[in-house]
Amino acid sequence: MSEERWAAVDDYLAARLAPVDPVLEAALDASRAGGLPSINVTPTQGAFLALLVRLQGARSVLEIGTLGGYSTIWLARALPAGGRVVTLEVDEGRAEVARANLSRAGLDGVVEVRVGPALATLPRLVAEETGPFDVVFVDADKSNNPAYFAWSRRLTRPGSLIIVDNVVRDGAVLEAGSADPDIVGTRRLHDEIAADPGVRASVIQTVGAKGWDGLALVLVEEERPAG
Ligand code: SAH
Ligand code: DHB
Ligand code: MG
Repeated sequence: MSEERWAAVDDYLAARLAPVDPVLEAALDASRAGGLPSINVTPTQGAFLALLVRLQGARSVLEIGTLGGYSTIWLARALPAGGRVVTLEVDEGRAEVARANLSRAGLDGVVEVRVGPALATLPRLVAEETGPFDVVFVDADKSNNPAYFAWSRRLTRPGSLIIVDNVVRDGAVLEAGSADPDIVGTRRLHDEIAADPGVRASVIQTVGAKGWDGLALVLVEEERPAG
């Protein structure tokens, strides 16, 4: 099975599940023009995220890792009227591209882009009592995934869903001795999810236009114990 064939199947499915959408196309064009890397979720993954938001009956979404706002548009569009997304991005230039894309998507009043290192913004969201969020999508620097999971636990409630992107990384997650901080962070994340008695979780491995990776789905069942 070749990567080209995964991509061809992804295109076949995307043509049906995520038909060409001028707003999403414009977001990707503007992201390319702005020099952003093409590490956004694929169209079928975007449709899957939107489906999860719907299944949750979510009204509020927290996203960690905005880039150009492509996944943000999928998440925000899945919300009912009055819903909101808070999305965190460390890079001011990327956040600017994202704001323009979200504006073009008519989502100005729905999405708030917060600029800064997520580890600085997340405690602020707790202090401001911005949560709890119904869905969290974690998709930023993978080395910090254990910390993002811990903050996500504090910013959710029983019934919330925490989704983490890129938890397989071409199988590199198997490399126990890896010195790559992204792999170390990803492996620690899996251990912490496994050690948390208050969540129910699984991982779906994905193949497609962006290779082999996976999404962790973590359903919060109990408040995180204090301390
Ligand atoms: N969710 C996006 C892709 C995000 S790519 C989509 O699918 O469309 C990951 C993003 O996380 C990048 O834009 C990167 O700048 C951002 N990021 C990296 N480290 C971060 C940090 N410490 N805090 C917040 N954002 C960070
Ligand atoms: C990278 C980041 C992502 O969120 C992703 O989905 C794919 C690749 C990266 O940093 O290389
Ligand atoms: Mg990702």
